[in-house]
Amino acid sequence: MALVKTVNLGKVFQEKSVPVTALSSVSIEIEKGEFVAISGPSGSGKTTLLNLIGCLDRPTQGQIYLDGEEVGKLHQKALTPFRLRKIGFIFQDYNLIPTLTAGENIEYVLWLQGMGASERRKRIHEVAERFGITSLIHRRPWQLSRGQQQRAAVARAIVHKPRIVLGDELTANLDQKTGIGLMEFLKELNEKEKITFLYATHDPTMMKYADRIIKIQDGRILEGSLV
Ligand SMILES: Nc1ncnc2c1ncn2[C@@H]1O[C@H](COP(=O)(O)OP(=O)(O)OP(=O)(O)O)[C@@H](O)[C@H]1O
Ligand SMILES: [Mg+2]
Repeated sequence: MALVKTVNLGKVFQEKSVPVTALSSVSIEIEKGEFVAISGPSGSGKTTLLNLIGCLDRPTQGQIYLDGEEVGKLHQKALTPFRLRKIGFIFQDYNLIPTLTAGENIEYVLWLQGMGASERRKRIHEVAERFGITSLIHRRPWQLSRGQQQRAAVARAIVHKPRIVLGDELTANLDQKTGIGLMEFLKELNEKEKITFLYATHDPTMMKYADRIIKIQDGRILEGSLV
């Protein structure tokens, strides 16, 4: 069974009563352990697709199955804990909460899940060590370099051991060398820990890391891009 499956997914935004079709008839499958890129020009629907799969937004058409569960059938109340457990998100600008330290940012999702304090501390320690940021966890985001912020954001996305990590233009704000460093790091996590990654990019260098590239244009998957 695929980890993620979308069936005829569609999203229409209503902008001042003018409909904007962001996605139409998107049917894709992502298997457990895959490292998949979504590529396409600006405005093609990449972020919309990630937001739908990440349960941050609801489709106007079609279905999403995540880890065997049909997301659309979950009520809002059930959706938030479901999302917290199953998904890790790495946003383009990292979205670290500025008033929290790096460690607290990483801890936050565990706290939301109701994990006890000692288990939280253990997990943060593990992940910080693995990411080489142990000495930085007491700093606030503005006291970290972009590369360090990015590692904290990745640590936060995986600390709860999600089923899938979604990334939106992860490397867009980074210089080439730091961007490549991040992709190599994510690929290693994928290979060693079988974490599934789905990331949107229009940078050919970042696409090279993918096992598979899903091409999208005008909200539709391009024929032949699924293999
Ligand atoms: N909240 C919204 N309201 C109205 N239209 C939207 C909204 N979000 C996205 N759109 C439109 O949906 C289409 C797809 O946008 P999306 O952000 O998914 O593209 P993208 O592929 O991520 O582009 P980029 O590479 O620039 O990030 C665009 O035409 C966009 O203007
Ligand atoms: Mg986008």
